[in-house]
Amino acid sequence: MKILVTGATGQLGSLVVKHLLDRVPASQIAASVRNIAKAQEMAAEGIDVRHGDFDDLALMTNAFKGIDIALIISGETDVETRIKQHRTAVDAAKAAGVRHLVYTSFIDARPESPFTYAAIHADTESYIKASGLSFTLLRNSFYTDLLMAGVPHALETGDFGAPAGNGKVSYIPRNDLAEAAATVLANPADHVNQTYDLSGTPIGFADIAAIIADATGKDIRYVDLPPEVHTGILASFGLPDHLIEALSGMYVGTRNGDYEQTSDDFAKVVGRAPQSTADFLKAALK
Ligand SMILES: NC(=O)c1ccc[n+]([C@@H]2O[C@H](COP(=O)([O-])OP(=O)(O)OC[C@H]3O[C@@H](n4cnc5c(N)ncnc54)[C@H](OP(=O)(O)O)[C@@H]3O)[C@@H](O)[C@H]2O)c1
Repeated sequence: MKILVTGATGQLGSLVVKHLLDRVPASQIAASVRNIAKAQEMAAEGIDVRHGDFDDLALMTNAFKGIDIALIISGETDVETRIKQHRTAVDAAKAAGVRHLVYTSFIDARPESPFTYAAIHADTESYIKASGLSFTLLRNSFYTDLLMAGVPHALETGDFGAPAGNGKVSYIPRNDLAEAAATVLANPADHVNQTYDLSGTPIGFADIAAIIADATGKDIRYVDLPPEVHTGILASFGLPDHLIEALSGMYVGTRNGDYEQTSDDFAKVVGRAPQSTADFLKAALK
């Protein structure tokens, strides 16, 4: 069985490859990357590095040749482009004879979600199901790692700000999500046509601020930012409009309680609970 990981030089993809190497020999692993030069270390480890890009059907079909199971890691551009890219990746996999697709979806994959990127995941999930290939949908929650972005400002000012109200998010570390993906890829027969909600225990922002305060010994409090102030801060960073819209929508969803659901799917797949937000932040802030 030959396994391919797209986006293998990305943050999640490289962790998936690392966890795969703990489970199967390197000769069973292929990596689809947009920049071969970034994958020299993987090639040196015996991984079959291939050139792939969701914008190019022929290139992507070639990358999927001889592959039995592939992880499609969602891309990173605007909604319309990404829907097209993911459809191209599915078409390419099918044309190349891939039998099973695993996809990094999202816990709230509804087209009407205020988190605008959710519509991409809803479309890709439907497209994969309609392809007739075997599938496993990994509905990833938000990475705990994202919380680190607010830490430097919190340390400087004492304010850990977010327009989250009293909403909670079921954060889960990126590394745990990578391990779940690798577990599925190494044993696909156990996960045929399954959809997993991969999430941690929901936590609110006042509790997150208290954990950061405890871990750093600094006086830090949660500040519930007005949404328009938050959107203005994002715009001041020069982020693209689609990302500003998605991040603003993510907090609308948070205030609605859209990401408070709990699931034991991670433990079912991996055999242990995910790392808690407190343990993640304490380790990251040591
Ligand atoms: N759950 C969450 O909290 C969360 C947070 C951020 C992002 N995400 C989603 O999860 C994905 C993986 O997260 P990450 O942390 O690994 O992000 P990342 O480090 O930014 O990686 C993004 C990946 O997307 C790949 N990609 C982008 N455009 C592509 C294209 N046209 N064709 C093929 N591959 C393409 C990149 O490929 P190369 O390696 O070839 O550059 C890269 O591996 C993201 O792309 C995003 O969709 C989830």
